[in-house]
Amino acid sequence: MLKMCGIVGYIGYRDSQPILLEGLKKLEYRGYDSAGVAVFTEHGLEIRKTVGRLSNLEARLREQPLRGTVGIGHTRWATHGKPSVANSHPHTDHTFKVSVVHNGIIENYLELKEELMLKGHRFQSETDTEVISHLIAAEYDGDIVRAVRKAVRKMRGAFAIAVLTEYEPDRLVAVRLASPLIIGVGEGEMFVASDIPAILEYTRDVYILNDGEMAAITRDGVELMTIEGNPIAKEKFHVDWDLMTAEKAGFEHFMLKEIHEQPRAYRDTMRGRIAADGRDVVFPDLGLTPERLREIRRVHIVACGTALHAGMVGKHVIERLTRIPTETDYASEYRYRSPIITPDTLVIVVSQSGETADTLAALREAKRQGARVLAITNVIGSSVAREADDVIITQAGPEIAVASTKAYTTQLIAFYLLGLYWAKALGTLPDEEIARTLAAMQALPEQAERILAQGDDIKALAESIARHQSLFFIGRGLDFAVALEGSLKLKEISYIHSEAYAAGELKHGTLALIEEGVPVIALMTQEELYEKTLSNVKEAKARGARVIGIVSEGLDAEAAKSVDRMFVVPRTLPLLAPALSVVPLQLIAYYAAVTLGHDVDKPRNLAKSVTVE
Ligand code: AGP
Repeated sequence: MLKMCGIVGYIGYRDSQPILLEGLKKLEYRGYDSAGVAVFTEHGLEIRKTVGRLSNLEARLREQPLRGTVGIGHTRWATHGKPSVANSHPHTDHTFKVSVVHNGIIENYLELKEELMLKGHRFQSETDTEVISHLIAAEYDGDIVRAVRKAVRKMRGAFAIAVLTEYEPDRLVAVRLASPLIIGVGEGEMFVASDIPAILEYTRDVYILNDGEMAAITRDGVELMTIEGNPIAKEKFHVDWDLMTAEKAGFEHFMLKEIHEQPRAYRDTMRGRIAADGRDVVFPDLGLTPERLREIRRVHIVACGTALHAGMVGKHVIERLTRIPTETDYASEYRYRSPIITPDTLVIVVSQSGETADTLAALREAKRQGARVLAITNVIGSSVAREADDVIITQAGPEIAVASTKAYTTQLIAFYLLGLYWAKALGTLPDEEIARTLAAMQALPEQAERILAQGDDIKALAESIARHQSLFFIGRGLDFAVALEGSLKLKEISYIHSEAYAAGELKHGTLALIEEGVPVIALMTQEELYEKTLSNVKEAKARGARVIGIVSEGLDAEAAKSVDRMFVVPRTLPLLAPALSVVPLQLIAYYAAVTLGHDVDKPRNLAKSVTVE
């Protein structure tokens, strides 16, 4: 049973149940097919678990509350097997003394389970997590930290766990091995969580555990150590986001809020990275200096999903600005295709969360083969950020909706900045061009605001496609890269089937699917490719397609003659157009999903952070 889940834990002086529930709500994006809490009450260790959304657990706890000042909680997303109460966390051993919440995979759990069964342990679930609680109970000899350490040494895999035992209810134990985990530090109270927003309401001071580290937590302090038991000293990390940033701020959904945050996110991602005279990019803390950049001969951009689509724009940006050959790859494919990685290869991994298992595995493989790795990520302290040689943090702020929007556009901004910085180092772009591009970039936030102000027009477009079974996105060059993202966005939240095609490729087979009334969304923002795309639009129209053009200002008069409906995006440099043309596509996906009554922020079958391969 594989999982990617949210963990929260509390030990302090307050009632733990509401704190655990609030924390789980903030983590629901990590998984939401079942949830549970374990609290040490006057009756000992007590557990409540329910299948489905967290509201089910809340209802259950309203009926049968758990009172106690120490507890752990979990929200789960299964990748195999049915979500069920038995498979939900927290799990316990058969004596009901040790409870565990877990994120990740124990690869050798079947072996361990067999050994334990021979010793008389009885199991209730199909999960690997239950094995952990039994293993800890079997190792317990009066010191829970020692028992956890011994158990962990027998486990193979990638995991984060939090442990609460009735034997020692005045401490929690937390362990991290390749799945994120943090410890929040309060006054007379401490927290454990798989992600910062879960505890932000209570404290801003956190310890970020590294792989192979664990924490023994009491109400008054935390002892940090390696899983071998060696004490470690660690600096506290102060979180300066406000909680409002992680909440909906009056929008109906996180996704809509996050789409609207893009102008701010563009500005934040550029802030401090453009010289005061506007003529150069500055990366004050990037180890990838101009000297180092001059040594790079090839680039691999590796990521998943939307982050990969940003990388596809990044490929165009890097190749056009620096002329360095750049390839893009699905992170899940990269390792297995024996990529040609040389010491002068720069591998750029792109990841909003910085915790995507496939991306992390690709990063590790690239490093193993001697490449320098640059991460473009949104999460400071994430695994990707910590393991890469260099990091560019996008300043999107926490992204809660499963469908990624502001992370994508800030990844584009990061690629533009990197491309210009690199071009300057190589002398591949005249200084005047760099200054002109930077000026155009600084106009993007205001231009995106203008698009957002036309939300009602885009809503009408979305309503016109929402009842269709299937549709197509077409474009050439950068427009094709954006078409891929528009199509993914629509699929993941509206569940309408769509495909993105390089406009010129349509006639090589897929045109057979175009029949009367099939919507085709055609991106036309690239002046030099525009005539060509227009002929593909005409081919589709001749077969009955209903074409919606997403067209750059200046190209609209001509396009108007060929398309059925059109949305005009403000004029910018062709290279920068994706940062604007994607915005109406995000809104089309959003409003189509709303029209169809779907749960926009938590689409079926998906989770925000995919920490399993
Ligand atoms: C985007 O809308 C998706 N939910 C998904 O494709 C996502 O971009 C992908 O899983 C990668 O996530 P990351 O950026 O956190 O690595």
